[in-house]
Amino acid sequence: MSRVVAKRSIINLHIAVSLFMLTLVLVYVFATTIFITHLNESSRLVNMTGSLRARTYRLEVTVGVRAGTPNAGQLSGMVASQVHDVEQVLTELQGILSRPWSLHKVELLREVYQLDLVFRSELHPLLVQLLAERGDREPSLLLFHQQAGMFVARVDRLIAALQEHNEILAQRFQLLQIAFVACFLGALASIAFYVRRRMIEPILMLNEASQTMMEGDFSVRLSYAAKDEIGLLCTAFNHATSSLERLFTENKKTSHDLLLLTNISHEMLQLTSPGGVYRYICDRALDLLGVDMVWLGLADKEHSTVMQVAHAGDRADYLEGLVVTCDDQSTGLGPTGSAIRTRQPVLCRYDDERFGPWRAQAEQAGFRSSLALPLTAKEGVIGTLNLYSSSVTHFNQQLLEICNVYALQAAAMIENVRLIEYIVFALARAAEANDEDTGNHLLRVGEYCALLAKEAGLPPAYEEMIRFQAVLHDVGKIHVDPGILKKAGPLTDDQWGVMREHPRFGARIIGDHSVLEMAKDIALSHHERWDGSGYPFGLRGEEIPLAARLMNIADQYDALRSQRVYKPAFDHATVCRIMLEGDGRTMPEHFDPALLAIFRRSATQFGEIYDRLQG
Ligand code: C2E
Ligand code: SIN
Ligand code: SIN
Ligand code: FE
Repeated sequence: MSRVVAKRSIINLHIAVSLFMLTLVLVYVFATTIFITHLNESSRLVNMTGSLRARTYRLEVTVGVRAGTPNAGQLSGMVASQVHDVEQVLTELQGILSRPWSLHKVELLREVYQLDLVFRSELHPLLVQLLAERGDREPSLLLFHQQAGMFVARVDRLIAALQEHNEILAQRFQLLQIAFVACFLGALASIAFYVRRRMIEPILMLNEASQTMMEGDFSVRLSYAAKDEIGLLCTAFNHATSSLERLFTENKKTSHDLLLLTNISHEMLQLTSPGGVYRYICDRALDLLGVDMVWLGLADKEHSTVMQVAHAGDRADYLEGLVVTCDDQSTGLGPTGSAIRTRQPVLCRYDDERFGPWRAQAEQAGFRSSLALPLTAKEGVIGTLNLYSSSVTHFNQQLLEICNVYALQAAAMIENVRLIEYIVFALARAAEANDEDTGNHLLRVGEYCALLAKEAGLPPAYEEMIRFQAVLHDVGKIHVDPGILKKAGPLTDDQWGVMREHPRFGARIIGDHSVLEMAKDIALSHHERWDGSGYPFGLRGEEIPLAARLMNIADQYDALRSQRVYKPAFDHATVCRIMLEGDGRTMPEHFDPALLAIFRRSATQFGEIYDRLQG
């Protein structure tokens, strides 16, 4: 797994904030130190200036009091020492004020220079002169006092200036402290705010989201846009939940689909006609597998053909011109042929080579992908279930798995229903063994019945059911003496007596299995007549089961068209006339009028069925 690096790292931010706070403290300590040092120095300056003042006074006093006393030598020594004191203070003041880092204003320094100048150039020479004078010193003394007074006044101004400066400094120091405290508090507040917004809140959010997720709600997502470590965590969390949600949904869908599949196989077991099963397989594939079109093809390996036996969905017109084989001609190299030969599902995208010959048509129909599923039974691949989707990516791995399970079930159901069909046909053929010349009679009556059912608006399931169950209608003839069945001429009354039992015999043979309920109705009642003149019970009208009424029309049309030992074959027109107008033996009132009307309408198709399945 690759390491994802945050674009705006919280760790970097943390370092930056720490450095900032450290700098803030250092600046404060430094500034405070400077201020305090300076304030101390300023106080010292004030003291020194004060002492300058005192020394000047002392000098004045010394000169004033002692002037004129006899020991002038002692006086000049004192004065010299005091002058030296004053000058030393002045020099020191200048020294302090002229330091390069001094925060004092230049005016102060200038003022001290001025004082120094005044003292050295005026007061000091005046003193020297005063000490040297003999006699009346009064005027010089007066001048000295005057000058000294002015000097002291200057010193006072300096003191005042220094004090003012100190006050300003003290104020600034206070301001600095306030500003620092404000800065510090501001920084702390910002950090607290940031930590709350960027760390605590998202972590609480993550915590809450995790709880929600643990309760099974994977739809939870975090909206945290920052690109820092927490942002990465949130993004990772969102990815995790969406993956989980997808997996969960897919799982749910799979189990739902599997459940549906189970239901479907249960439903399929209820279907007993091959056509019904084929159609059901197609219909259910449509909604279960979410495809747009589906067709079921059964392979006839002997002839290398693939017959479309059912389809469902839109664009079934696509199938009209579709010729598919399972040999290695071009029509057999497509998905269907390949699936049959390789026994593997063949998934195609519309731009796939294998779609070649059908591409233009497929594109026109709006299909973008297809799946040919081999239907594998005991005897090998019996055909394919062909699915088409308008989405290129419809057949994902998961759907493919469901499709394969579906194909397995479909194949099993087809095999099952074909086995039933086989046995039913075997039974029907056994009954025909003594009944000559019937040929494809069984197949034909199934088709006529299906046609009538369809034209009567009965559901396709009924149509498929009757097509298959009709074949057992004469199974009871197995109990009729072959001598009667094969008699070239008309039957005697006794022979008719036996012959009229064949519906009852049939019903007994078929028995009570629910799967063959319709077959039993047909066998028992296919010689009843609408007007009540039929056998074995003389039922009339709607007392006669519908399937038997349909069968009655189908049976008579086919018997009349066919050659029997006792009769020749009649052509279509003759048969229609006999049935619609009557010939004495057969009369229109024998038939359900509604069904006879349908027969009249679709007689041509009866003819076509007969021609197609002749022999
Ligand atoms: P099937 O031969 O399958 O005939 C079925 C039904 O077709 C007959 O029912 C009848 O309604 C109609 N049908 C058959 N041939 C003719 C015909 O030449 N003219 C007209 N108008 N209708 C015809 P049906 O009459 O109840 O007969 C039931 C079965 O009895 C027949 O089945 C056949 O196996 C047998 N059968 C009927 N008549 C004769 C006969 O003259 N000789 C022999 N050997 N068997 C007969
Ligand atoms: C085939 O299935 O072999 C051709 C028909 C088609 O897939 O359109
Ligand atoms: C029979 O009479 O042979 C059977 C009648 C029935 O099952 O109703
Ligand atoms: Fe019959």
